[in-house]
Amino acid sequence: MSDIRKMADFDTLTAQCLACERCGLCKTRHNVVVGVGNKQAEVLFVGEGPGENEDLQGEPFVGRGGKLLDLALEAVGLSREKNIYIANIVKCRPPQNRDPLPEEQEACIEWLRAQVALIRPKIIVCLGRVAACQIINKDFKVTKEHGQFFERNGVLLMGTLHPAAVLRDPRKKGEWFADFVTLRDKIREVCDRTDV
Ligand code: URA
Repeated sequence: MSDIRKMADFDTLTAQCLACERCGLCKTRHNVVVGVGNKQAEVLFVGEGPGENEDLQGEPFVGRGGKLLDLALEAVGLSREKNIYIANIVKCRPPQNRDPLPEEQEACIEWLRAQVALIRPKIIVCLGRVAACQIINKDFKVTKEHGQFFERNGVLLMGTLHPAAVLRDPRKKGEWFADFVTLRDKIREVCDRTDV
């Protein structure tokens, strides 16, 4: 475990992550979805795990949910090309898009820890319940606690709805978008290099 956490650089991390066989998801994956974006970003977004499109293309959030996420990001001056990094709790697609099992999350979380250690974000935004329960607090309630910041070891953690939940219930768009505005205000307060 600790050898992953102390990964020297992103290229080494990526090469080793692409070869990972730490859980059974490696048997059914087409691609390991390591992450995308600016490796010097002050803001890191974390989703649950790749879906079908992500598995086929090797990039996080490229399906319908990803398009919606990109729109919300753009509205507050953020983009995966410019000033954020996006990763997932598990890097390989769970079959039929089921939730990643606790043992799969456990096996994979060291990769995310290594990414966090290299990126050193000031803010981590958890997209949906799985990411928020893994990163913020195992009993996190997205419906009640979304949009709030929690500080841990000098890093600010926020949970918000998963884009797929907003696609399923478009009435949630308003409160989801309000979280992005809250995020933008916090970025203005605590980040030095993120121009939003
Ligand atoms: N859902 C996620 O949580 N992550 C992705 O990368 C795509 C869909």
